[in-house]
Amino acid sequence: MADGPVAELLLRRLQAADGGLDSAELAAELGVEHQAVVGAVKSLQALGEVIEAELRSTKRWELTAEGEEIAREGSHEARVFRSVPPEGLAQSELMRLPSGKVGFSKAMSNKWIRVDKSVADGPRVFRVVDSMEDEVQRRLQLVRGGQAEKLGEKEKSELRKRKLLTEVTLKTYWVSKGSAFSTSISKQETELSPEMISSGHLHPLLKVRSQFRQIFLEMGFTEMPTDNFIESSFWNFDALFQPQQHPARDQHDTFFLRDPAEALQLPMDYVQRVKRTHSQGGYGSQGYKYNWKLDEARKNLLRTHTTSASARALYRLAQKKPFTPAKYFSIDRVFRNETLDATHLAEFHQIEGVVADHGLTLGHLMGVLREFFTKLGITQLRFKPAYNPYTEPSMEVFSYHQGLKKWVEVGNSGIFRPEMLLPMGLPENVSVIAWGLSLERPTMIKYGINNIRELVGHKVNLQMVYDSPLCRLDAEPRPSQTQVAA
Ligand code: PHE
Repeated sequence: MADGPVAELLLRRLQAADGGLDSAELAAELGVEHQAVVGAVKSLQALGEVIEAELRSTKRWELTAEGEEIAREGSHEARVFRSVPPEGLAQSELMRLPSGKVGFSKAMSNKWIRVDKSVADGPRVFRVVDSMEDEVQRRLQLVRGGQAEKLGEKEKSELRKRKLLTEVTLKTYWVSKGSAFSTSISKQETELSPEMISSGHLHPLLKVRSQFRQIFLEMGFTEMPTDNFIESSFWNFDALFQPQQHPARDQHDTFFLRDPAEALQLPMDYVQRVKRTHSQGGYGSQGYKYNWKLDEARKNLLRTHTTSASARALYRLAQKKPFTPAKYFSIDRVFRNETLDATHLAEFHQIEGVVADHGLTLGHLMGVLREFFTKLGITQLRFKPAYNPYTEPSMEVFSYHQGLKKWVEVGNSGIFRPEMLLPMGLPENVSVIAWGLSLERPTMIKYGINNIRELVGHKVNLQMVYDSPLCRLDAEPRPSQTQVAA
């Protein structure tokens, strides 16, 4: 938070400094972690022009753990030298000392010690000099004291080869006063209160969502629970009679989860019926005739459509006997691993409507779609045959766009296949009609937004949110919209 003590200290130091100051030096001066100063810099940056901060990377030499030990206790060769008394020491005994093996040859080549092999009970080590300079220790102590520049490149690289030194890159900020510099910064609100929420503004997507919700409620629909972004492949694909080798299940279209990678709780009775329908068929269908795998169905993913929630709701409905007709809707977020452009993000919202009743036909679907879209002010509709793995027949819904002067796709729809409904346990004469559309597209059209990044994400202009009018999806069709489509 920008009102933290480190931020205040930083501003006070900055006022006194001419030019600016380095974040790492300030951290050392204040006796705090560098990360604490970096945090203060970032929160001050978020306030606007109070400070300017430029990221710099500087290289610095640091001792390794072994380097630290040597700076403290002396080099292995020095320790070997010190353990040799004037009367000498058996080589075998010296080799058993902790620094013996590593220090012996270096102490030999430094000509600090010698070995006498003529001694009767084995080779014996003697001192050659009375005293020596432990250069390695001295150099490491220089580095530890922040005086690495006193060493030559050759000396440093030699110590690095011996793994006593490493060069680390330190990222620091060079902080200077901004155009709105001040040492007194106003406290930022950090907690949301109920008052702030009730006096706040709804984002355009939420305004349009509440309008859609209103329409569904007027039509007698009940909202389905959609409070899980993470879904199993089973509910997202398998329950919808989407074969396991379907391209939509590819990594390119779907975000799979690494952790937790697998869904453990699946209704196994029902899973068995789904397996059978995919691999062998049943209910009058030939199925897909492939080897259906439970492992594949357990794979967790970010749901790619809210039809997974519809599948769960229909399965729950099927468990209630006797069957009662139902009308469900949902409006929530879905995720697709797509190429991003001006109108597509990897996450968006879907609106979905589902009606389950005895003997529903394509005529009922068209009728419900007309009623739904008329409430949105869209009266000119056209239906185009389409394909979905889980609906048959399927129809894309187009409406004539006055502004664009052309037919644009506004939704997708269909009648759920018996291969999806019968394994759930729904009665044979019950059919389910459903449709889906995105929340983003009508919102962008409604508010005249051309780039999705102006609507979603960190570039959203809050002023746009304040200024966007209440959403009233034109309830009364305008005269021009009633003309017959070309
Ligand atoms: N799930 C479809 C989609 O993601 C939409 C849809 C819902 C189609 C219901 C048919 C029936 O585009």
